[in-house]
Amino acid sequence: MSKATLTLGNQTLEMPVVVGTENEVGISIGVLRGSSGAITLDPGYGNTGSCTSAITFIDGERGVLRYRGYAIEDLAAHASFVEVMHLLVYGALPTAAQLERFQHSLAHHTLLHEDMKKFYEGFPPKAQPMSVLSAMVASLSTYYETDDDLNIIRLLAKLKTIAALSYKKSIGQPFVYPRNDLDFVADFLHMMFAVPTEAYHVNEVVRKALDMLLILHADHEQNCSTSTVRMVGSSGADLFSTISTGISALSGPLHGGANTAVIKMLELIRADGSDYAKYIAKAKDRNDPFRLMGFGHRVYKQFDPRARLIKKAADQVLDQLGITDPLLAIAKNLERVALEDEYFVKRKLYPNLDFYSGIVYRAMGLPTSMFTVLFALGRLPGWIAHFKEMRDNRDRLHRPRQIYTGPMLRPIPPIEYR
Ligand code: ACO
Repeated sequence: MSKATLTLGNQTLEMPVVVGTENEVGISIGVLRGSSGAITLDPGYGNTGSCTSAITFIDGERGVLRYRGYAIEDLAAHASFVEVMHLLVYGALPTAAQLERFQHSLAHHTLLHEDMKKFYEGFPPKAQPMSVLSAMVASLSTYYETDDDLNIIRLLAKLKTIAALSYKKSIGQPFVYPRNDLDFVADFLHMMFAVPTEAYHVNEVVRKALDMLLILHADHEQNCSTSTVRMVGSSGADLFSTISTGISALSGPLHGGANTAVIKMLELIRADGSDYAKYIAKAKDRNDPFRLMGFGHRVYKQFDPRARLIKKAADQVLDQLGITDPLLAIAKNLERVALEDEYFVKRKLYPNLDFYSGIVYRAMGLPTSMFTVLFALGRLPGWIAHFKEMRDNRDRLHRPRQIYTGPMLRPIPPIEYR
């Protein structure tokens, strides 16, 4: 199968077929407009491939997710987040020497320019941490104007400092500086939770669980925020400005913001007597705007493999930390009822990665306001990998077309007749 044929009116068009390494088939429609004047119409890009990419493979029908050929289950069990960063951004798992160099570089670029601390003073006390994160990342481009590869390390190293400072600002505590002797995740926890009045020891259960969660969030091919990154980056915009738009895209409740929305939903159900059946009925009601947050996915028509791993982690972390969270029981009941309900079965709606992640974050003592920031911290290497791939491949400017549905040409009426 090397060509597809399309009949449009009395024209027959032949279009090349592109086949990926996992036998995914794409019809290259480049000839369509030139030969026929027509375009393809696919609102929400549900069936449009915007690029070829060698980073992440998803099979939504079988619930498969791989980064550069490695199964997400294997990476979660055997790799660290720093190794996965290296894998995504540079294309290979690091050797021992590469890992040491990479960790050293990451540890030595964590500081923000002291002036940038003043930016936090200008944000209101209740500022959304995602808005702060996006603004601070965009601001980095004013400090590092040269568009070079070191900016990748700078951003990978500094995002956790920016994130932790925004949390400290939101609770009115003094900023805590990074520590080069701690590993990536331990350093983040230290900046989040250390206070000048007492020694802070990183809990190993929390560190390991967060490391794994960050791996699970690290890339997901052409999702909304990554497509945003590729769209903005295609104009030649610099790394920091581009990634800040990915952060903004991630903040919405239909994307990364869903992890916060899930907890709010579970709290609402709990406050309403834990009547989960009532909320299943609401989610099914077309006239009710309520949706089961953390359920459904554009690509997965199967259990999201990340959700499986996070659900297991939720049980383990709560058990190891000796925590009982009533929201976990509500979530499990919602899942059980939904998976047996014809509405969800017919539409192939399964829990996505956001359904259980918030419960694990809560158990770790991480505040709800920071959940989407944690998603961004995990997704950063994926965004950077796509930015780099797009640059290396010299991708064209992204510029979709449209079908115009507004008024036809008309004269401007005199003001008294408008
Ligand atoms: N609760 C109730 N019904 C749902 C849900 C849900 N969570 N998700 C989808 N449906 C229904 C829709 O109403 C629609 O029904 P219909 O065919 O009768 O009209 C059908 O399932 C298909 O849904 P769409 O909205 O067309 O699917 P789409 O692919 O556009 O949306 C999305 C995917 C946005 C994730 C959606 O499932 C949703 O809103 N989920 C809740 C928010 C969420 O968890 N987002 C996180 C996604 S994962 C991530 O970004 C990290």
